[in-house]
Parts: sequence; C-alpha cells; structure tokens
Amino acid sequence: MQNQNDQSRMDRIVSLAKRRGFIFQSSEIYGGLNGFWDYGPLGVALKRNLKDAWWHDMVAGHDELATLAGAPSPYEMTGLDCTIIMHPQVWKCSGHFDLFHDWMIDCRESKRRYRYDHLHGRWAAHRGKKVFVTTDASGDEAAPETVARAQKFFGLRAKQVDEIEWGGGLESLQQAIAAGSATLADTLGPDATAPGSLTEPREFNLMFETRIGALAGDDEDRAFLRPETAQGIFVNFKNVLDTSRVRVPFGIAQVGKSFRNEITPRNFTFRSREFEQMEIEFFCKPADSAAWYRYWRDRRWKWYLDLGLTAGRLQLREHAADELSHYSVGTADIEYAFPFLAAGEFGELEGIAHRGDFDLRSHMEGKLVRQDGGLVVETGPDGKPRHKGSGKDLSYFDDITRERFVPHVIEPSAGADRATLAFLCDAYHEDEVPDEDGKPRSRTVLKLHPRLAPVKAAILPLVKKDGMPEVAIDLYRALKPHMACQYDEKGSVGRRYARQDEAGTPWCLTVDGQSLADRTVTLRDRDSLVQQRVAIDEVVDLLRDKLS
Ligand code: GAP
Repeated sequence: MQNQNDQSRMDRIVSLAKRRGFIFQSSEIYGGLNGFWDYGPLGVALKRNLKDAWWHDMVAGHDELATLAGAPSPYEMTGLDCTIIMHPQVWKCSGHFDLFHDWMIDCRESKRRYRYDHLHGRWAAHRGKKVFVTTDASGDEAAPETVARAQKFFGLRAKQVDEIEWGGGLESLQQAIAAGSATLADTLGPDATAPGSLTEPREFNLMFETRIGALAGDDEDRAFLRPETAQGIFVNFKNVLDTSRVRVPFGIAQVGKSFRNEITPRNFTFRSREFEQMEIEFFCKPADSAAWYRYWRDRRWKWYLDLGLTAGRLQLREHAADELSHYSVGTADIEYAFPFLAAGEFGELEGIAHRGDFDLRSHMEGKLVRQDGGLVVETGPDGKPRHKGSGKDLSYFDDITRERFVPHVIEPSAGADRATLAFLCDAYHEDEVPDEDGKPRSRTVLKLHPRLAPVKAAILPLVKKDGMPEVAIDLYRALKPHMACQYDEKGSVGRRYARQDEAGTPWCLTVDGQSLADRTVTLRDRDSLVQQRVAIDEVVDLLRDKLS
C-alpha cells in the first residue's frame, strides 16, 4: 500500500499535473498569481467531464417520475446560469456583506498576512528564554517547521536542537490566545525573527469588489463578484416558478465561477481565489425538509463513491451546532483525505446544508438574524431593516393542498476544482509493469473512472508501416464521434502506453500484424493490464457499453 499522505507524493501529483498539461499556475510567464489556476488540455477535459457527470446525474438524466432510493417522493430538477455580478443588495440581504469574512493577522516585521485560524504554535524554552513559536505550515510539515524556527531563534546548531524544552504539542494560536495560554507579545510570527510583531486580528471581507460603469468611484457603483452561485438561484426562484411548470419539491442547479479573496490561498487548487461551484438549491415543504436533507446528504456521498473515490479516504461529517453557518439549521460535509494533509485530517469537498427558509425570506423581508431560536429582520438604530429586502412575494402556493408557504431549502454545494483535485489525487498511482522485453518498468498511472478520463481510448498502430496506420486511422475515425480518443503513432508502443497511462486513458487499442489478417485489435486495460483481442467492427459498441 503506497503512503497516501505525504507532501512529496503531493509534489509528484502537482508535477504530473503541470508536465502533462492538467493544471498550470495562472499568468505563469509573469511569475504567476497566487490563488489562480489555469486548466491545460487534459485538465480542461477532466474538469468538464466531472461537471458534465454532475449535471447529467443530478439534472439532465434525473427521472422525475420515479421515487429514487431514499427520496421521500419523486421530484423535479431544472437549471440556471446567472451572472457573476449581481445587484449589491443581494449580498447585503444574504449576509455576505456583513458576515462573509475571515480573521487575518499581519506581521509588522515580515509584512506578511496570515489567516488567524491557520496559525499554529507551541511553547519553546532554552536556558531561561521562552517563546511561543508559530507556523502557517499545515499537515506533517508544521511540527518540523517550529523546530527549525526555534533553533534559529535561540541561535542553536543542529546538534543542540535536543536542548530545546517544548511546552506541549502544536495548538491553534487563536485558541491559545483565547485561553490565555499565549499572548501576541510572546508570539514569534511565522516569518519573524523576534516575538511581538503580530498585529491584533482583524476582520477581512472575502468578497472581491468591483465598480460598474464609466463613472466608477461613487459608492453607488460598488459591486461584488459572487462568492457563491447559490444567491443567483434564490433571486430567480419566482422567475423559475412563473415560467416553468415545476412544483415543490424541486431543485434548481447551477455550475459557475465564484470568487473569494482568500487571505492565504494554498494547497494547489484546494483553496483558490477563483473557482467553480456546482450547487443545487432544493425547495421543499418545511415538514419534509429533514427527510430531504438526509436524502441529499446520502445521494451526494454515493456520487463520489460511484465515480471511484476510495471509500476509506472519504468521510461524512455532521457539523456541531457551533460550526453552523449563519443560515444553517444542519450541515454535513463530505471530506477527502488530501495527500497534503497530515494523516487523519480531511478537507471539505462539498457541504450539504439545511438552510431552512433563511434565503427566500431574506430576499423578501431583508437581512435576517437569529433571535430567540427564530429568524427576525435585523434592524438598524433607526428601527428600520438594516438591509432592505426586495419586498417581492417569494412564497409558494400549492394548488392541490391549497397551502401557501415559504419553501425550505436543502443545498448540496460542491466545488468543481476541489473535486477535480480529489479525483486527480485519488487516481494517482505509481507501480511497476513489464516493458516490451518483459523487464519491470516503473510507471505513473492515473486510474480515473472512464467517465472522467480526458481521453477514453488511444489507437496505436504497432509500427508506422505495413498498412497498420491506415487500419488504425479508420478505427480512430469510427470511434471519434462517440468518445474522446487519440491516434498516436510516435515512439515505441511501450512509450505510447506510458503516455496514455499518465493521462489516465482507460483503454489502448493496438493494431498489429494480426489485425491485417483477421480484423482484430488488442484492447489493453489500463488498470488490470489485461490485453484481449477484439473484432475491429465491435470496438465502438464494446467501448460505448463500457462507458455507459
Ligand atoms: N453556497 C454555499 C457555499 O458556498 P461553501 O462551503 O462556502 O458553501 C461550497 O462552498 C464548496 O465550494 C466547498 O465545499 C468547496 O468545494 C468549494 N470552495 C469553497 N471555497 C473554495 C476555494 N477558496 N477554493 C476552491 N473551492 C472552494
């Protein structure tokens, strides 16, 4: 079993991603831009396949006449594609304007900025001198980093490191300060040489701001890039109801870009400043909402497993009450054990939130706050709503039961980039295969689910002569209308297999001498390496069957 959690494995995945054209740093020729990533030729296909699989499985392929396993009843699904810049009032009523922030902390010495909750530290002492050494490194790198920093701070040689007395393990700086076991004056910042350089933590709103129109400058022109796709769905709820025949329960799905000015983007694409979300807002009767919440949590969990993520590296985690977002009355996260995390740690792939009627009511009445267990419109000093709602009626009238109510919402909210990264990490394997002479050769292979694989099949003439390329090109042309495939005649067949293994191509079809005699080819399976002979005329149907 390969060690799945280590930074060097992650480094090799990042290196493959770059070398094979999956993911590049944005604006790389100018030195790159932190938190922004571009998808290369293979990456764009992988991510598109992932989004297409999601859209197909959740929306386009949904059978609205059937009661799916675990669902309380049949339901409908539809979609939207909303703008990135929306009316600023949307974000005031949603709560993002007031509440969508992280705590940041600056270092006066190094001029660097950190997310407060990302800093960890521990007490170190040497010959009567004590300091709370911090680091912003995560996973297995954090503890060795504090050792190196303490060594430097106390001016010790490598062989003197054992003289450092440690006052316990790593703990969150935020919690240590809150508990009074450390102060900022005692704290050595992650890039500082002396303690006391960290500022008091400050709030930092994560929404990117922009200005609309030529007369930019006035506060009236101030707008925001959406930090989630969800709000476009809520503000269009009535449009969808009025223009389509959907009835509660139903869901509206959207895939699109979101933007967050993350203080410390990190871990490759995991925490980016520009990323894509795949969100569903599912509208149901309040009384049925708990059952729908369970349905969506389990359905989304199963989706990742069906697409091949290793069960042992996935975790479903219900949030504790103090972890819930301002709108949520229940949330579960689907998390993945990314290799850049320490063993036992998981990173969020998707959140499934029971949002109650918070969003629709906020956009009707104005920004809501929780009070005495209920939601009320937040008022300013003048007694008026702090952020005024649209005043539009976003309730739903059930013409069969003759009931009117504000639907409750269940929101499965997934990140397309995080999921792409999880599938990439999970698929990454290093093993040994026999080369053309039967000798073991190490290979890197992406064992991607065929639905996600950027290229489904490669067609390879064994040699570039004797009529083999012609047969292979005919086969390529027969297959291409049905699936992404590649024709490759360059290099030894072993090297061509290796190239396709690294790209995650599940099947290679090789045209050889026998093909010319009996119109068969070898079909090589990427994972089992089994090679079987199949009739050329049956290849299209065979691979289409395998894909479906
Ligand atoms: N509408 C609810 C919402 O946006 P969220 O948990 O903030 O909830 C949902 O985001 C998903 O979006 C996350 O589970 C994650 O997959 C993705 N996501 C959030 N912030 C991200 C970031 N900075 N970079 C990449 N993906 C991110």
